[in-house]
Amino acid sequence: MSGGLAGLTALKLGKPDFYLDTIDSTNGWLKLHGTELPDGALCWTGNQTRGRGRLGREWNAEKGQALAMSLLFKPSYETELLPLICGMAVSQALSGMTGEEFLIKWPNDIICGGLKICGILCENSLLEQDSFAVAGIGVNLNQTADDFSKLGLSNAGSVGMTAGVRLDIGDVASEIVNRLEPLWLTLREEGFSPLLERYSDLCINIGKDVCVLSPDGRVLHKGRAVGISPDGRLMVDDGSGIISVSSGEVSIRGLLGYA
Ligand code: BTN
Repeated sequence: MSGGLAGLTALKLGKPDFYLDTIDSTNGWLKLHGTELPDGALCWTGNQTRGRGRLGREWNAEKGQALAMSLLFKPSYETELLPLICGMAVSQALSGMTGEEFLIKWPNDIICGGLKICGILCENSLLEQDSFAVAGIGVNLNQTADDFSKLGLSNAGSVGMTAGVRLDIGDVASEIVNRLEPLWLTLREEGFSPLLERYSDLCINIGKDVCVLSPDGRVLHKGRAVGISPDGRLMVDDGSGIISVSSGEVSIRGLLGYA
C-alpha cells in the first residue's frame, strides 16, 4: 500500500504516501484515517470509483487514466485559501511537465485549451479531539474526447488531449506535491498576500466578463472580474459596484462559454 513516490522531493508534504489500487474516494479514505495519520500524509490512486466533486457532483477516475490524490493538513487551516494554492501547484506542475499553459479558472479548476483538466475539493473535518483539512485533487491524464462525450462532460479534457503528452500518475502526484510544499509554507507563515500576484497571473478570469452562478445554476451577477481579495474571493465589478464572491457559495462561467 505504501506508494514510495520516486520523484518526491518535498520534505514534509506527501509523507507518508499510500498508493490505493482502487478506492471509492481518496478524500473519503483520508477523512476516515485522518485522526491516526500525520500532517502531510498523501493517498493516491488511478482508480477512484465514487469520487466527490464540488457542489455535490461526482468525480471518478478509472482504469488508471486519471490521478485522484488527497493530502492531509493538520490542524485544519484556511480552507478558503487552500484550494487556491492547490490550483497554483497543479498549474505549475502540468505546465512544467508538458510545456503547455495550464491556467486557473477561479477558484481552482485547471484549464487548458478551454477544457477543464483538473478539479479540486478541499474538505474540513472538525472533530472534538482533532481537526484537519483534506485537499483532494483530480487530474484527467489520458482520457479521450470520446470518453468524456459518453459521460456528457462537454467541458472536460485531459492532459493527453490538450498537450499531447502521456504522463505517469505517480510522476504527476510527486510533482504536484513538490510544487505545493513551498506555497503551503508561505501561506502558513506569511498568509496569502505574498502569493496573490502569482495566483492572479495564473487566473484566466481576471479582466474578463463573467457570470456568477448559484449552485443550482441561476445567474446571480454579471460583470467584469477585476481581482482577487487577500482572503481569496473573486472581486466582480457589475457596473454599480464591486461584489466579492466566495468560492463556497458560487461558481463562475465566462460570458462566452465555460472558461
Ligand atoms: C470538482 O468538482 O471540480 C472537484 C473535483 C475533486 C475531485 C478530487 S479527486 C481526488 C479527491 N477525492 C475525491 O473524492 N474528490 C477529490
